Amino acid sequence: MTAVAEYQVRKDDLAETRVVERPLPALADGEVLAKVDRFAVTANNVTYGVVGERIGYWKFFPVEDDGWGVIPVWGFADVEASNHPDVAVGERLYGYWPMANYLVMAPGKISDTRLVDDAPHRRELPPVYNSYSRVKGTPGYDGAMDDEQMVLFPLYATSFCIYDFLKDNDWFGAERVIIPSASSKTAIGTAYAVKSDETPPHLTGLTSPRNKKAVEALGLYDEVALYDDIETLNADMPSVIVDMSGNGEVLGRLHKLLGDNMKYTSNVGVTHYDSNQMGPDFISERSAMFFAPGHIQKRTKDWGPGAFEKRAHAFWRDAAIKSRDWLSIKNATGADAVDGAWRDVLEGKTPADAAWVVSF
Ligand SMILES: NC(=O)c1ccc[n+]([C@@H]2O[C@H](COP(=O)([O-])OP(=O)(O)OC[C@H]3O[C@@H](n4cnc5c(N)ncnc54)[C@H](OP(=O)(O)O)[C@@H]3O)[C@@H](O)[C@H]2O)c1
Repeated sequence: MTAVAEYQVRKDDLAETRVVERPLPALADGEVLAKVDRFAVTANNVTYGVVGERIGYWKFFPVEDDGWGVIPVWGFADVEASNHPDVAVGERLYGYWPMANYLVMAPGKISDTRLVDDAPHRRELPPVYNSYSRVKGTPGYDGAMDDEQMVLFPLYATSFCIYDFLKDNDWFGAERVIIPSASSKTAIGTAYAVKSDETPPHLTGLTSPRNKKAVEALGLYDEVALYDDIETLNADMPSVIVDMSGNGEVLGRLHKLLGDNMKYTSNVGVTHYDSNQMGPDFISERSAMFFAPGHIQKRTKDWGPGAFEKRAHAFWRDAAIKSRDWLSIKNATGADAVDGAWRDVLEGKTPADAAWVVSF
């Protein structure tokens, strides 16, 4: 391909999309051209768009026309051209890419295992997203797990962070963890982590009717309930809520039911992005947003460089292998395939036991 093809969405309407092509730019000294091989699309990427203004996700891959943005995705790319002495053509990288076929990078700090894109517009953004792993320097890298790494690593690394955060806070005094949007992969990863604890709390998954069977089939949650059945849950059990849904009505009903037994709510996700108004029953003083990159930065300080990555990688690998029992990854190629996957995920049509890996 000789042109950059970029999939753009309208920032105020994620269903309005277009593919914009432009000539490949000439590389400046120190820059490299990465050819995006393929990437995963899950509800996490929709969330990047939903909270794009608030958290700054539009700033990674800026578009001249301010009404439009590029959604970041997790995937692999291969270096196709290089003006950098330490980055060779053919090198394969894993990390955070635009929904596009190419990215021009400006490698800054480079180690055997990682490379940081030091492009000026990225410097103020969370470092976790600017750091790419160099496949050739990654111990135990297994190319056969590329698809699983794209889909599951960012989500299960978050799950590992959530578990670590809850454990570090003695489960906030709770005996039960309740997870709305229990069919999401980040929730399932959290369930793997919680259930591997020596003394795991009771684990309740909340989901919609169409995903209930799939969630039950995992055999990970002690109890699976529908959003409609929230009022039938035991209100006497001190509980912590790990919320993937961002659904104001669901959280309000849970908080009302539990009252003082709602020990803490960790607002992790917004899979129900169109229902995110919190009502009067929402207990904001015991709720806080969870931001995995922030937790990773904290643990990097606490544990020293590389230690978090090592533990998260081990957790991801183990949980990804277990996930082969239920997860089917769908591959597709071409601009139409990218559009199809985006719409499927945006409209909530991707089955809970499936995920997309696509490429231009
Ligand atoms: N805070 C952080 O640092 C962080 C890090 C990683 C991920 N996350 C968040 O965790 C959430 C889960 O991400 P994921 O990639 O794991 O999700 P996923 O596996 O793609 O989740 C799919 C599930 O989300 C619900 N859903 C998706 N689209 C929907 C729609 N349009 N309408 C209603 N329900 C819909 C459904 O679950 P139910 O039927 O069970 O509700 C569906 O089975 C995202 O919001 C993501 O941003 C946060």
